[in-house]
Amino acid sequence: YKVMFPGPTGTNAVEAALKLVRKVTGRQDIVSFTNAFHGMTLGALALSGNVVKRESAGIPLQHQLTAPYDGELGVDVDTVSVLDAMLADSPNSVAGVIVETVQGEGGLHSADFGWLRRLSECCKRHDVLLIVDDIQAGCGRTGTFFSFEPASIEPDVICLSKSISGSGLPMSLTLIRPDLDIWSPGEHNGTFRGNNAAFVTATEALSWWVDDSLTNDVHRKSEMIRAELESIATEHESMRATVRGRGFLQGLHTPIAGLASQICAAAFERGLLMETSGGAASDVVKLMPPLTIEDTQLENGLAILRASVEAAAP
Ligand SMILES: Cc1ncc(COP(=O)(O)O)c(C=O)c1O
Repeated sequence: YKVMFPGPTGTNAVEAALKLVRKVTGRQDIVSFTNAFHGMTLGALALSGNVVKRESAGIPLQHQLTAPYDGELGVDVDTVSVLDAMLADSPNSVAGVIVETVQGEGGLHSADFGWLRRLSECCKRHDVLLIVDDIQAGCGRTGTFFSFEPASIEPDVICLSKSISGSGLPMSLTLIRPDLDIWSPGEHNGTFRGNNAAFVTATEALSWWVDDSLTNDVHRKSEMIRAELESIATEHESMRATVRGRGFLQGLHTPIAGLASQICAAAFERGLLMETSGGAASDVVKLMPPLTIEDTQLENGLAILRASVEAAAP
Protein backbone atom coordinates (compact mmCIF):
# COMPACT_ATOMS: atom_id res chain seq x y z
CA TYR A 1 0.00 0.00 0.00
CA LYS A 2 0.98 3.62 -0.48
CA VAL A 3 0.66 5.64 2.70
CA MET A 4 -1.20 8.93 2.68
CA PHE A 5 -1.36 11.33 5.63
CA PRO A 6 -4.81 12.77 5.05
CA GLY A 7 -5.12 14.96 8.18
CA PRO A 8 -5.13 14.36 11.92
CA THR A 9 -8.41 12.51 12.54
CA GLY A 10 -10.20 9.35 11.50
CA THR A 11 -12.85 11.19 9.54
CA ASN A 12 -10.06 12.79 7.44
CA ALA A 13 -8.84 9.31 6.45
CA VAL A 14 -12.37 8.35 5.41
CA GLU A 15 -12.92 11.54 3.38
CA ALA A 16 -9.66 10.94 1.51
CA ALA A 17 -10.70 7.35 0.78
CA LEU A 18 -14.10 8.46 -0.53
CA LYS A 19 -12.66 11.12 -2.82
CA LEU A 20 -10.10 8.71 -4.18
CA VAL A 21 -12.47 5.83 -4.98
CA ARG A 22 -14.82 8.32 -6.68
CA LYS A 23 -11.96 9.76 -8.70
CA VAL A 24 -10.61 6.33 -9.69
CA THR A 25 -13.97 4.90 -10.77
CA GLY A 26 -15.67 8.07 -12.01
CA ARG A 27 -18.76 6.97 -10.05
CA GLN A 28 -20.47 8.75 -7.15
CA ASP A 29 -22.29 6.37 -4.80
CA ILE A 30 -20.81 4.62 -1.78
CA VAL A 31 -22.37 1.63 -0.01
CA SER A 32 -22.12 1.52 3.77
CA PHE A 33 -23.78 -0.83 6.25
CA THR A 34 -26.53 -0.70 8.84
CA ASN A 35 -25.21 0.61 12.20
CA ALA A 36 -22.02 1.89 10.57
CA PHE A 37 -20.02 4.80 11.92
CA HIS A 38 -17.29 6.47 9.88
CA GLY A 39 -16.97 10.03 11.22
CA MET A 40 -18.68 13.39 11.51
CA THR A 41 -17.64 15.36 8.41
CA LEU A 42 -20.26 15.40 5.66
CA GLY A 43 -18.89 12.64 3.42
CA ALA A 44 -18.24 10.27 6.33
CA LEU A 45 -21.49 11.27 8.06
CA ALA A 46 -23.44 10.27 4.96
CA LEU A 47 -22.20 6.70 5.59
CA SER A 48 -23.34 6.65 9.22
CA GLY A 49 -26.35 4.64 10.38
CA ASN A 50 -26.98 6.82 13.47
CA VAL A 51 -30.09 8.93 12.77
CA VAL A 52 -29.31 11.55 15.44
CA LYS A 53 -25.81 12.12 14.06
CA ARG A 54 -27.11 12.20 10.48
CA GLU A 55 -29.67 14.88 11.35
CA SER A 56 -26.89 17.13 12.64
CA ALA A 57 -25.74 17.59 9.02
CA GLY A 58 -28.53 20.08 8.36
CA ILE A 59 -28.54 19.18 4.66
CA PRO A 60 -29.48 16.03 2.74
CA LEU A 61 -26.73 13.42 2.87
CA GLN A 62 -26.41 12.03 -0.60
CA HIS A 63 -24.72 9.49 -2.84
CA GLN A 64 -24.90 6.75 -0.22
CA LEU A 65 -26.72 3.41 -0.15
CA THR A 66 -27.21 1.26 2.96
CA ALA A 67 -26.73 -2.51 2.82
CA PRO A 68 -27.52 -4.89 5.72
CA TYR A 69 -24.46 -5.81 7.82
CA ASP A 70 -23.63 -9.43 8.60
CA GLY A 71 -26.40 -10.86 10.82
CA GLU A 72 -28.73 -7.89 10.35
CA LEU A 73 -31.43 -10.02 8.71
CA GLY A 74 -31.03 -13.02 11.03
CA VAL A 75 -28.54 -15.85 11.15
CA ASP A 76 -30.02 -17.63 8.13
CA VAL A 77 -29.62 -14.76 5.66
CA ASP A 78 -26.29 -14.12 3.95
CA THR A 79 -26.58 -10.35 3.54
CA VAL A 80 -23.84 -10.30 0.90
CA SER A 81 -26.51 -11.66 -1.46
CA VAL A 82 -28.53 -8.47 -0.78
CA LEU A 83 -25.50 -6.33 -1.63
CA ASP A 84 -24.94 -8.48 -4.71
CA ALA A 85 -28.47 -7.70 -5.89
CA MET A 86 -28.09 -4.00 -5.08
CA LEU A 87 -24.87 -3.72 -7.09
CA ALA A 88 -26.36 -5.67 -10.00
CA ASP A 89 -29.31 -3.27 -9.96
CA SER A 90 -27.18 -0.12 -10.09
CA PRO A 91 -24.40 -0.79 -12.58
CA ASN A 92 -21.90 2.05 -13.00
CA SER A 93 -23.16 4.10 -10.07
CA VAL A 94 -21.35 2.60 -7.05
CA ALA A 95 -17.70 3.58 -6.59
CA GLY A 96 -16.96 1.74 -3.37
CA VAL A 97 -18.16 -0.24 -0.38
CA ILE A 98 -16.93 0.74 3.10
CA VAL A 99 -17.02 -1.68 6.02
CA GLU A 100 -15.91 -2.04 9.65
CA THR A 101 -15.03 -5.62 10.59
CA VAL A 102 -16.29 -4.87 14.12
CA GLN A 103 -18.69 -1.94 14.45
CA GLY A 104 -17.04 0.05 17.23
CA GLU A 105 -19.71 2.71 17.68
CA GLY A 106 -22.65 0.85 16.15
CA GLY A 107 -23.04 -1.88 18.80
CA LEU A 108 -19.96 -4.16 18.48
CA HIS A 109 -21.55 -6.29 15.76
CA SER A 110 -18.69 -8.26 14.26
CA ALA A 111 -18.57 -9.69 10.78
CA ASP A 112 -17.90 -13.37 10.20
CA PHE A 113 -14.63 -14.00 8.31
CA GLY A 114 -16.48 -15.97 5.61
CA TRP A 115 -18.88 -13.03 5.19
CA LEU A 116 -15.90 -10.67 4.75
CA ARG A 117 -14.45 -12.98 2.09
CA ARG A 118 -17.75 -13.10 0.24
CA LEU A 119 -18.01 -9.31 0.53
CA SER A 120 -14.57 -8.91 -1.02
CA GLU A 121 -15.45 -11.32 -3.86
CA CYS A 122 -18.74 -9.49 -4.45
CA CYS A 123 -16.93 -6.14 -4.77
CA LYS A 124 -14.47 -7.66 -7.26
CA ARG A 125 -17.32 -9.23 -9.25
CA HIS A 126 -18.99 -5.83 -9.65
CA ASP A 127 -15.73 -3.91 -10.13
CA VAL A 128 -16.38 -1.86 -7.00
CA LEU A 129 -13.56 -0.82 -4.63
CA LEU A 130 -13.51 -2.14 -1.07
CA ILE A 131 -12.54 0.23 1.75
CA VAL A 132 -11.97 -1.26 5.19
CA ASP A 133 -12.37 1.35 7.91
CA ASP A 134 -9.93 -0.06 10.48
CA ILE A 135 -9.83 3.18 12.45
CA GLN A 136 -11.20 1.58 15.61
CA ALA A 137 -10.72 -2.17 15.05
CA GLY A 138 -7.23 -2.00 13.51
CA CYS A 139 -3.69 -1.58 14.90
CA GLY A 140 -3.92 -4.73 17.02
CA ARG A 141 -7.23 -4.15 18.78
CA THR A 142 -8.61 -7.50 17.58
CA GLY A 143 -5.27 -9.29 17.95
CA THR A 144 -3.78 -9.00 14.46
CA PHE A 145 -2.42 -5.69 13.15
CA PHE A 146 -5.23 -5.33 10.61
CA SER A 147 -8.56 -6.64 11.85
CA PHE A 148 -9.34 -8.31 8.51
CA GLU A 149 -6.19 -10.50 8.42
CA PRO A 150 -7.95 -13.68 9.64
CA ALA A 151 -10.39 -13.30 6.71
CA SER A 152 -7.46 -13.28 4.21
CA ILE A 153 -8.84 -10.38 2.20
CA GLU A 154 -6.92 -7.54 0.55
CA PRO A 155 -8.96 -4.33 0.63
CA ASP A 156 -8.27 -1.67 -2.00
CA VAL A 157 -8.11 1.11 0.59
CA ILE A 158 -7.64 0.96 4.39
CA CYS A 159 -8.29 3.75 6.90
CA LEU A 160 -6.30 3.78 10.14
CA SER A 161 -6.25 6.20 13.07
CA LYS A 162 -6.87 6.09 16.85
CA SER A 163 -4.30 3.52 18.13
CA ILE A 164 -1.86 4.12 15.26
CA SER A 165 -0.08 6.79 17.32
CA GLY A 166 0.07 4.41 20.27
CA SER A 167 -0.71 7.15 22.77
CA GLY A 168 -3.79 9.01 21.61
CA LEU A 169 -1.97 11.72 19.69
CA PRO A 170 -3.61 12.90 16.45
CA MET A 171 -2.55 10.77 13.48
CA SER A 172 -4.40 9.05 10.68
CA LEU A 173 -3.47 7.16 7.53
CA THR A 174 -5.20 6.22 4.31
CA LEU A 175 -3.48 3.18 2.79
CA ILE A 176 -3.97 2.95 -0.96
CA ARG A 177 -3.39 0.04 -3.36
CA PRO A 178 -0.44 1.51 -5.32
CA ASP A 179 -2.06 1.43 -8.76
CA LEU A 180 -5.02 3.42 -7.39
CA ASP A 181 -2.88 6.37 -6.32
CA ILE A 182 -3.92 8.78 -9.04
CA TRP A 183 -3.87 11.91 -6.88
CA SER A 184 -2.23 14.86 -8.60
CA PRO A 185 0.39 16.59 -6.44
CA GLY A 186 -1.36 18.71 -3.79
CA GLU A 187 -4.83 17.72 -5.01
CA HIS A 188 -5.96 16.67 -1.52
CA ASN A 189 -3.89 18.66 0.94
CA GLY A 190 -4.14 20.62 4.21
CA THR A 191 -2.11 22.13 7.00
CA PHE A 192 -2.01 19.59 9.84
CA ARG A 193 -0.92 16.42 8.05
CA GLY A 194 1.81 15.30 10.40
CA ASN A 195 1.86 15.90 14.13
CA ASN A 196 5.55 15.52 14.96
CA ALA A 197 5.03 14.08 18.43
CA ALA A 198 2.57 11.52 16.99
CA PHE A 199 5.22 10.33 14.52
CA VAL A 200 7.55 9.60 17.44
CA THR A 201 4.92 7.67 19.43
CA ALA A 202 3.64 5.86 16.29
CA THR A 203 7.18 4.67 15.55
CA GLU A 204 7.39 3.34 19.10
CA ALA A 205 3.96 1.69 18.78
CA LEU A 206 5.00 -0.04 15.53
CA SER A 207 8.10 -1.42 17.28
CA TRP A 208 5.72 -3.68 19.24
CA TRP A 209 5.02 -5.52 15.97
CA VAL A 210 8.55 -6.82 15.26
CA ASP A 211 7.50 -10.23 16.58
CA ASP A 212 4.30 -12.06 17.58
CA SER A 213 4.43 -11.39 21.31
CA LEU A 214 1.88 -8.54 21.34
CA THR A 215 -0.47 -10.47 19.05
CA ASN A 216 -0.24 -13.58 21.22
CA ASP A 217 -0.76 -11.53 24.36
CA VAL A 218 -3.85 -9.75 23.00
CA HIS A 219 -5.33 -13.10 21.88
CA ARG A 220 -4.72 -14.63 25.32
CA LYS A 221 -6.20 -11.68 27.22
CA SER A 222 -9.15 -11.52 24.78
CA GLU A 223 -10.05 -15.04 25.95
CA MET A 224 -9.94 -13.82 29.57
CA ILE A 225 -12.30 -10.96 28.64
CA ARG A 226 -14.62 -13.31 26.75
CA ALA A 227 -14.80 -15.81 29.62
CA GLU A 228 -15.52 -13.09 32.18
CA LEU A 229 -18.20 -11.42 30.04
CA GLU A 230 -19.87 -14.80 29.37
CA SER A 231 -19.83 -15.52 33.10
CA ILE A 232 -21.33 -12.10 33.99
CA ALA A 233 -24.05 -12.59 31.36
CA THR A 234 -24.90 -16.07 32.68
CA GLU A 235 -24.95 -14.95 36.32
CA HIS A 236 -27.21 -11.95 35.65
CA GLU A 237 -29.95 -13.57 33.64
CA SER A 238 -32.27 -10.60 34.23
CA MET A 239 -29.97 -8.45 32.03
CA ARG A 240 -30.67 -10.74 29.07
CA ALA A 241 -27.13 -9.94 27.98
CA THR A 242 -25.13 -11.34 25.07
CA VAL A 243 -21.41 -10.95 24.47
CA ARG A 244 -20.45 -9.08 21.31
CA GLY A 245 -17.27 -8.13 19.47
CA ARG A 246 -13.83 -9.68 19.42
CA GLY A 247 -10.33 -9.08 20.77
CA PHE A 248 -9.99 -5.97 22.91
CA LEU A 249 -13.21 -4.63 21.40
CA GLN A 250 -15.81 -6.69 23.23
CA GLY A 251 -18.81 -5.85 25.35
CA LEU A 252 -22.19 -6.83 26.72
CA HIS A 253 -25.38 -6.07 24.82
CA THR A 254 -28.55 -5.74 26.89
CA PRO A 255 -32.02 -5.05 25.48
CA ILE A 256 -33.10 -3.36 28.74
CA ALA A 257 -33.40 0.36 27.96
CA GLY A 258 -30.91 2.54 29.82
CA LEU A 259 -29.15 -0.35 31.59
CA ALA A 260 -25.88 -0.12 29.64
CA SER A 261 -25.55 3.57 30.60
CA GLN A 262 -26.34 2.77 34.25
CA ILE A 263 -23.62 0.10 34.31
CA CYS A 264 -21.10 2.54 32.82
CA ALA A 265 -22.10 5.17 35.42
CA ALA A 266 -21.66 2.59 38.21
CA ALA A 267 -18.22 1.71 36.79
CA PHE A 268 -17.26 5.40 36.73
CA GLU A 269 -18.18 5.72 40.43
CA ARG A 270 -15.82 2.79 41.09
CA GLY A 271 -12.94 4.38 39.17
CA LEU A 272 -13.31 2.62 35.80
CA LEU A 273 -13.94 4.48 32.53
CA MET A 274 -16.34 2.60 30.25
CA GLU A 275 -18.40 3.82 27.33
CA THR A 276 -21.56 2.63 25.69
CA SER A 277 -21.88 1.62 22.05
CA GLY A 278 -24.90 0.92 19.87
CA GLY A 279 -25.74 4.21 18.17
CA ALA A 280 -28.83 6.01 19.45
CA ALA A 281 -29.88 2.93 21.50
CA SER A 282 -26.61 2.93 23.52
CA ASP A 283 -27.39 -0.63 24.55
CA VAL A 284 -23.89 -2.09 24.72
CA VAL A 285 -21.38 -1.80 27.57
CA LYS A 286 -18.09 -1.57 25.74
CA LEU A 287 -14.57 -2.50 26.82
CA MET A 288 -11.58 -0.91 25.12
CA PRO A 289 -8.49 -1.55 27.25
CA PRO A 290 -4.97 -0.53 26.20
CA LEU A 291 -3.20 -3.26 24.23
CA THR A 292 -0.35 -3.26 26.76
CA ILE A 293 -2.58 -3.73 29.81
CA GLU A 294 -1.09 -5.99 32.50
CA ASP A 295 -2.98 -9.12 33.58
CA THR A 296 -3.62 -7.75 37.08
CA GLN A 297 -4.97 -4.44 35.72
CA LEU A 298 -7.27 -6.34 33.37
CA GLU A 299 -8.45 -8.58 36.21
CA ASN A 300 -9.11 -5.51 38.39
CA GLY A 301 -11.05 -3.81 35.59
CA LEU A 302 -13.16 -6.90 34.97
CA ALA A 303 -13.85 -7.21 38.71
CA ILE A 304 -15.06 -3.57 38.78
CA LEU A 305 -17.26 -4.29 35.76
CA ARG A 306 -18.76 -7.30 37.55
CA ALA A 307 -19.44 -5.18 40.66
CA SER A 308 -21.00 -2.45 38.49
CA VAL A 309 -23.31 -4.95 36.80
CA GLU A 310 -24.27 -6.31 40.23
CA ALA A 311 -25.10 -2.76 41.38
CA ALA A 312 -27.09 -1.75 38.29
CA ALA A 313 -28.74 -4.93 36.97
CA PRO A 314 -32.45 -5.42 37.83
C1 LIG B 1 -14.72 3.10 12.57
C2 LIG B 1 -14.53 4.58 12.75
N1 LIG B 1 -14.31 5.35 11.67
C3 LIG B 1 -14.12 6.66 11.78
C4 LIG B 1 -14.15 7.30 13.00
C5 LIG B 1 -13.94 8.78 13.08
O1 LIG B 1 -12.71 9.08 13.69
P1 LIG B 1 -12.49 10.53 14.33
O2 LIG B 1 -13.40 10.65 15.49
O3 LIG B 1 -11.05 10.56 14.72
O4 LIG B 1 -12.80 11.51 13.25
C6 LIG B 1 -14.38 6.54 14.15
C7 LIG B 1 -14.45 7.18 15.48
O5 LIG B 1 -14.94 6.65 16.44
C8 LIG B 1 -14.58 5.15 14.02
O6 LIG B 1 -14.81 4.37 15.09
